[in-house]
Amino acid sequence: MTDEARLEAFEARIARGEKIEPGDWMPEQYRKQLIRMISQHAHSEIVGMLPEGAWITRAPTLRRKLVLLAKVQDEAGHGQYLYHAAETLGATREQMLDDLLSSRAKYSSVFNYPTLSWADIGVIGWLVDGAAIINQTMLAKSSYGPYSRAMLRICAEETFHKKQGQEMVILLSQGTPKQRAMVQNAINRWWWPTLMMFGPHDSESKNSAELMRWGVKTRSNDELRQVFVNQLIPDLHALGLSVPDPQLRFDEETGNWLIGPIDWDEFWRVVKGNGPCNAERLEARRQAHEDGRWVREALAAYAEKQKTEGPQGPQRPQGPCEFARP
Ligand code: 3HC
Repeated sequence: MTDEARLEAFEARIARGEKIEPGDWMPEQYRKQLIRMISQHAHSEIVGMLPEGAWITRAPTLRRKLVLLAKVQDEAGHGQYLYHAAETLGATREQMLDDLLSSRAKYSSVFNYPTLSWADIGVIGWLVDGAAIINQTMLAKSSYGPYSRAMLRICAEETFHKKQGQEMVILLSQGTPKQRAMVQNAINRWWWPTLMMFGPHDSESKNSAELMRWGVKTRSNDELRQVFVNQLIPDLHALGLSVPDPQLRFDEETGNWLIGPIDWDEFWRVVKGNGPCNAERLEARRQAHEDGRWVREALAAYAEKQKTEGPQGPQRPQGPCEFARP
């Protein structure tokens, strides 16, 4: 088959809603886009552990500590699923991590902001993870099999992340004046960085057209952002909370809450490494990578020993396994 014929057959599969699997023929650009997007998604999960991790030792109760520990641990698992999904496309873990630690690769800009109070943990859970669910529910329909299946598991866990955050915000909003002020302050700081998670406007998005053509994304950046705003505004208003947008208004005709302009200069400043916490986040990841060097070296040495001297340690007895069916 010519490449044109292969591409035609590939796009026909996408149009039929078929999942593309690792061994299937795919355009090189499809593979490149997926490796870019999935690896940066994985980086976001891992770096996203840092802002919340800073509050594990300062959680106000044992229950809150346990919930936050479980959430941060989930994010590490999400990163693993996603790195594995990228590896099915031929990317190596070493290369992906090197791209992150050398700043060649991106991760979600939202994680470059500081968590200044305990209320931030609730607001991140409700807003940031809530935004992630909207984006990731869309990605669960992605044309690439391993990515869409990873999303199914991740979305289930994100729902717990969102609910625990929403519960915290509700309790704080109904608490003392100081607690209300703390949670409103957190919303004021996280509202716009959360809206930026959905990416540039569709007209400015250099990857969206290709990603939509090949079914990697099935809804646009602006469409998902609007879903998020329509979902959050009524719930925040019901709690007597507001968002820092004087131009916010409800459009009776469309039923949409319309936001004011997003500060794209701030967005690109943070994406390009000049946000409040970019240096601190990367330094923490570089240090963690260095601290884990001995583990990687020990595993490599063991694998080498296995290869040259055969299997090590007590061998399983030959013959039928004691649990073999009778
Ligand atoms: N932060 C950092 N970089 C961003 C960004 C953001 N919020 N939004 C866009 N960019 C980058 C893109 O990576 C791209 O740069 P690149 O070509 O060098 O990779 C450039 O800006 C142009 O953006 P595009 O709109 O053309 O890029 P996409 O079409 O890929 O849209 C996206 C960006 C919406 C982030 C999309 O990549 C996507 O849906 N990715 C998968 C989901 C994801 O990565 N989510 C990150 C959050 S993870 C998370 O929420 C964890 C949870 O536990 C809280």
